[in-house]
Amino acid sequence: MCGIVGYVGGRPALDVVVDGLARLEYRGYDSAGVAILAEGALTTAKRAGKLVNLREALAEEPPPAGTLGMGHTRWATHGAPNDRNAHPHVDCSGTVAVIHNGIIENFAALRSELEEAGHKLGSDTDTEAVAHLLEDELKAGGNLADAMRRVCRRLEGAFTLVAMHTGDPDLVVGARRNSPLVVGVGDGENFLASDVAAFIEHTRDAIELGQDQVVELRAGGVAVTDFEGRPAEVKEYHVDWDVSAAEKGGYDYFMLKEIAEQPRAVADTLLGRIGTDGRLTLDEMRISDQELREVDKIIIVACGTSYHAGLIAKYAIEHWAGLPCEVELASEFRYRDAILSPTTLVIAISQSGETMDALMAVRHAREQKAKLLGICNVNGSTLPRECDGVLYTHAGPEIAVASTKAFLTQLVAVYLIALYLAQVRGTKWGDEVFAMVQLLDGMPEKVDKVLETMEPVRELARSLAGERCVLFLGRHVGFPVALEGALKLKELAYMHAEGFAAGELKHGPIALIEEGLPVVVVVPPRARAVLHDKIVSNIQEIRARGARTIVIAEEGDASVEPYADTLISVPAVPTLLQPLVTTVPLQVFACELATAKGHDVDQPRNLAKSVTVE
Ligand code: M6R
Repeated sequence: MCGIVGYVGGRPALDVVVDGLARLEYRGYDSAGVAILAEGALTTAKRAGKLVNLREALAEEPPPAGTLGMGHTRWATHGAPNDRNAHPHVDCSGTVAVIHNGIIENFAALRSELEEAGHKLGSDTDTEAVAHLLEDELKAGGNLADAMRRVCRRLEGAFTLVAMHTGDPDLVVGARRNSPLVVGVGDGENFLASDVAAFIEHTRDAIELGQDQVVELRAGGVAVTDFEGRPAEVKEYHVDWDVSAAEKGGYDYFMLKEIAEQPRAVADTLLGRIGTDGRLTLDEMRISDQELREVDKIIIVACGTSYHAGLIAKYAIEHWAGLPCEVELASEFRYRDAILSPTTLVIAISQSGETMDALMAVRHAREQKAKLLGICNVNGSTLPRECDGVLYTHAGPEIAVASTKAFLTQLVAVYLIALYLAQVRGTKWGDEVFAMVQLLDGMPEKVDKVLETMEPVRELARSLAGERCVLFLGRHVGFPVALEGALKLKELAYMHAEGFAAGELKHGPIALIEEGLPVVVVVPPRARAVLHDKIVSNIQEIRARGARTIVIAEEGDASVEPYADTLISVPAVPTLLQPLVTTVPLQVFACELATAKGHDVDQPRNLAKSVTVE
């Protein structure tokens, strides 16, 4: 949720930190703050609201120039999003500064203990307790890293912490448990951040930090230990995208750029999946074919848009691989008594790989001895490390809060997994799998075609900016697409939007239909006549009751024309692959409608990109 940056090196730390925060603002934008260590003193500055407010404050009153610094952009959990609760937080003497992402669950007890001991806490946050605990531990001896290790051993919950201390003027210390933190390795300078985007313009060499580790960052090197002080093994990696991928590249919003990048992202996710023998290969699967043959049930866990990708996966897995498949909201999964065994394959889908609900679901499944497969877009994140195997999507960095290219690439990933299962289990012949992969290879061109025809959708969206509610209907894989269209509109345009299975309408929701209500209907290909004809009847039913019908159907589908107030045509593709083309108009629709209402589509209210609390 919050974004964290730390720096030590030869450059002005303030510039590095504020530029890094600008790239992490998508993680939270309730308030922002920095701390700079210069001339033996710590200077902090913090402001409620977006980063621009902090920038203005810093321009009015710049801190002394220093080469050690850290910064934070907040998504509030404990304490209102005001100046007082913004990070960094300092101890009683102002010699220790701390920033934090996550929730310290035992903070109330720690706070009472600190107050009883005479500490004065000036905010409502859980974070501030850490600054005061570090103050006490520093008095007990050792440097800031020793103090951090001792403090971490007392904390419960999830946290990334970064701290600086005037007594250790060349040292920035970081720690993590259940919350992201990566190290950027430079030449005579090093970085800490929640996400590599913060330092990608300075270095593409990074280190993954493991669970319960503390990192000591100096200009000349990086040392990592566990919370007990034992040296830890770390994994270095090279980031395969550069700074241009983390910039808007001429678009007004990241979301617009990311929608436009979808053909490339889909193509990149498909790249290199067919081996020289013509068979589908998934490099980092790490679950053997024999183990996959033994799987007798699949459970998919995910949140939000990734959950919608999971719903679509179910159709592909059941159809191609002939395996029973359940899909569960990750936040609910561990509260029911799901039946898992070593022959259950749990697939966790998460763009960020840091969504706490997804991670907790994975850990629950691990305890029950299920096999774990992750679908993830972020190299170096937690999810792939906690799964037996992984399939990376290659969407590149997704900065806008609304998931777009991540979703399309997740669909590609689930299709590939379904086909791979079909291949190893023999439910499809090799040539059938190959033919389907070839159809997938043709999808970037189809998505491109959809993007070229979006002007009428933008016009329509602008004309509906005054509406209070929009409904979305679909059947089969069109149903999760309807849910996704509604989610996009809710999160970006702050409108009431609901997605329904079209067949369910008559069981209640049809009562919502009134004169002029916009209803978007996703029509399956004509080749699935049984689905197609039913939904054409559903369109007639709602139109008869006054709905304004916005129909998304494949090119040349004349049967829907008489009942469509607006017809959006998409290229004809096989039924299971249709979400790759029908979702795109819904993304464009929500983005344009929200923009017409004057909303910042990259940073919708109350949200953050990466949800690292439960
Ligand atoms: O990083 P994840 O895929 O785990 O994120 C899951 C959801 O928080 C995310 O998809 C969210 O629903 C999007 N903002 C929707 O556009």
